[in-house]
Amino acid sequence: TSTPIRAVVNVDLPGATISRHLYGHFAEHLGRCIYGGFWVGEGSDIPNEGGIRLDVVEALRALGIPNLRWPGGCFADEYHWRDGVGPRDERPRTVNSHWGDVVENNAFGTHEFMQLCEMLDAEPYVSGNVGSGTVQEMSDWVEYLTRGDDSPMARLRRENGRDEPWTVPFWGVGNEPWGCGGNMSAQTFADLARQYATYVRQHSGNSVYRIAAGASDGDYRWTQTLMEALGSVERPGELRGVFQAISFHYYSMTGTWDRKGSATDFTVDEFYRAIAAAAKAERFIEGHSAVMDVYDPEKKIGLVLDEWGTWWDPTPGTNPGFLEQQNTLRDALVASVHFDAFHRHADRLVMANIAQTINVLQAMLLTDTETGALVLTPTYHVFEMNRGHHDARALDVHLLDDAPVRESSAGDVRTLSASASRKDGRALLSLTNAHDADAATVAIQLRGATAGDVRGRILTAAAIDAHNTFATPDAVAVTTFEGFSLDGDVLTVTIPAHSYVTIDLAVD
Ligand code: AHR
Repeated sequence: TSTPIRAVVNVDLPGATISRHLYGHFAEHLGRCIYGGFWVGEGSDIPNEGGIRLDVVEALRALGIPNLRWPGGCFADEYHWRDGVGPRDERPRTVNSHWGDVVENNAFGTHEFMQLCEMLDAEPYVSGNVGSGTVQEMSDWVEYLTRGDDSPMARLRRENGRDEPWTVPFWGVGNEPWGCGGNMSAQTFADLARQYATYVRQHSGNSVYRIAAGASDGDYRWTQTLMEALGSVERPGELRGVFQAISFHYYSMTGTWDRKGSATDFTVDEFYRAIAAAAKAERFIEGHSAVMDVYDPEKKIGLVLDEWGTWWDPTPGTNPGFLEQQNTLRDALVASVHFDAFHRHADRLVMANIAQTINVLQAMLLTDTETGALVLTPTYHVFEMNRGHHDARALDVHLLDDAPVRESSAGDVRTLSASASRKDGRALLSLTNAHDADAATVAIQLRGATAGDVRGRILTAAAIDAHNTFATPDAVAVTTFEGFSLDGDVLTVTIPAHSYVTIDLAVD
């Protein structure tokens, strides 16, 4: 048995609210995310409503999916929304040049996306086209979606079968403008973001939260340029109304762009490299936050990580442009480490969207369109186990002893990660033991509360590369966990090697 690592949680000192939007999702017209993932079409034998797979909806509703970002990604900057409205059989065919260079039939467009959001009970996050669109086109799309009277776009929407305007709270202005979204300089994009965002109007009481496309990884200069576009240090926030948040993207890649590494066949060192890459997300959140603090010390402007997750070599035999990859216990631990960082920075980080929901990159769900089968990935289970953190108040977890460390080719990797929150008289502790071989014991003093009714859950498997397939869908599944004891106000938990544990308890 290992020596317990001592920790303290001040249960009576709750911090920032952990927005449920940190558990957001992303669905791009890419590979089999939309077509073959969400969308099977009305004529399909797979049970669907209006062409949308019902088992997918049910699985995502079980996560309390808070929002869905669409239609891209890179695709957003070549998407022209008028192609995707009106009678489906009259919609033009276009080319998805970024992802597989395939023909897009536009069967899934604005109305289908909004229907999906309604079925999911998720808030839509629409990414507008800056790279190849126009200010007018973006402005019209907002009007089409959200205006109630008989304006030209509202009329067009009615002609296409929808009378009432929708509520669209989140609006993205561009995507990766430094790359696929137009290869722009930060200053050029900052000017465009101000211009485009100005015409993302609030129609008919729809309150819109505009998110300017942001940096890659640790490009803090990009964030600084966007913050400057909102006002000088001397007159901070003078243009605050123009956009309300800035995004950034960070993928946990451990190899090179050409050789990212196998999703399922990896060494222990490669496992640790992924955990190290996940831990780096916190460094970037802190870096972007520090820049934003200079201009916005009151934290009125939100930071949004609207693409994150693992990125491995595509599954052998699949179209490399479809970014299809399996998902192992390693991916689940990458996710749980991210969430701990998200909870710690909930005062600035207001939204995050893992890439991507179905069949693409670090997916929640894998689908088989031939058989209609559906598999929940290990990452899905982490999202489900963390539901209790949605809109809860963050609690700091103070480690009194050094966390165990493993050496890897990416440097020393801390193998214990933890976070906590409280809501409605209960606390939720999240505990990741990313050690490949050893259990870890933590003795957590729960100060400032009387604890009771302790319940544990665990996600683990015999091996770090365990994953769920259509043949073995429950190889990595959540089970009840009893490896804890409560003695007075000290909760002692022994977390098995390579596992993720949540402890839910009553706190008075
Ligand atoms: O998620 C896949 C792609 O990664 C997105 O389209 C793009 O924004 C990013 O480079």
